[in-house]
Amino acid sequence: MPSLKNILVTGSNGQLGSELQALSSFYPKYHFLFTTKEELRIEDESLVKKYFAENDIDCCINCAAYTAVDKAEEEKEFCYAVNTSAAGYLAAACHNNNIAFIHFSTDYVFDGKKNTPYLEDDATSPVNYYGETKMLGEKNVQENNANAIIVRTSWVYSSFGKNFVKTMMRLMAEKESVNVVNDQIGAPTYAADLAAAVMHIIQQKKFIPGIYHYCNEGIITWYDFAVEIKRLTGSTCAVKGISTAQYPTPAKRSHYSAMDTKKIKNTFEITIPAWKISLAKAVLLLQQ
Ligand SMILES: NC(=O)c1ccc[n+]([C@@H]2O[C@H](COP(=O)([O-])OP(=O)(O)OC[C@H]3O[C@@H](n4cnc5c(N)ncnc54)[C@H](OP(=O)(O)O)[C@@H]3O)[C@@H](O)[C@H]2O)c1
Repeated sequence: MPSLKNILVTGSNGQLGSELQALSSFYPKYHFLFTTKEELRIEDESLVKKYFAENDIDCCINCAAYTAVDKAEEEKEFCYAVNTSAAGYLAAACHNNNIAFIHFSTDYVFDGKKNTPYLEDDATSPVNYYGETKMLGEKNVQENNANAIIVRTSWVYSSFGKNFVKTMMRLMAEKESVNVVNDQIGAPTYAADLAAAVMHIIQQKKFIPGIYHYCNEGIITWYDFAVEIKRLTGSTCAVKGISTAQYPTPAKRSHYSAMDTKKIKNTFEITIPAWKISLAKAVLLLQQ
């Protein structure tokens, strides 16, 4: 496989895109093209085609997505345009121009009826509209580009952007107690770890297409996650476990969405950090 020198990163101001930007200085042999939503709206097919025609690209990492899970129940058309249609436009542009394509999906493609970690080829059956658009996005990517790598991830957080860790740190500093659901089981993903894994895949030049699962090691609930944030920050705020039924949201959440990560670890010889180790790093960064 030829070297993937020129790397396009779409949605570069999001959590994962920002982590790739932060990492890029450690990879001087690559030339990165970081595009924000303002610079390249991926749901505009003609813009995508024009961008790919005008730029020399060897690899595209699609970090752009509509990720507002609850708002997606209202903004269906736009969510579909970004997560489903646009994923297909990028996959096709990469296919037509012989460009390696890496795309991201979610644990929310699963319905949560299992009680052991989901495997890549387990049946998908999303319980909310965001999950449905991501599942259809996966299909669209595979139909348009048989060589794409799709990485499903879950509960993403970072020192960049909006996420559970930052929200909890703020609430725990402001309030005497917080309620957190204790009956949704899954695994968090530090976007910095995922960004490093993606660069590891690109560096290896072993671009094996397919769907992969990536999240930090460990299976927890959001409540466990919050309790560890409290411990790391030394907050005196009480963390109370509540049920999903006590915390209704516009979009349904699945009860169980832990994913098995053996395939990505074995295929690309990747080591994934334990969730507590990565969370400690992120909290430290956020406290600076
Ligand atoms: N966040 C999670 O918990 C989570 C969980 C599972 C899977 N994932 C998946 O992981 C990937 C990375 O997620 P993330 O957490 O980095 O997401 P994020 O922080 O929401 O970043 C997404 C980026 O895409 C941009 N964007 C939105 N619509 C766009 C468009 N039409 N054209 C170009 N850019 C657009 C956003 O810009 P604006 O912010 O200006 O809209 C944002 O900068 C996504 O595929 C996501 O579905 C995320």
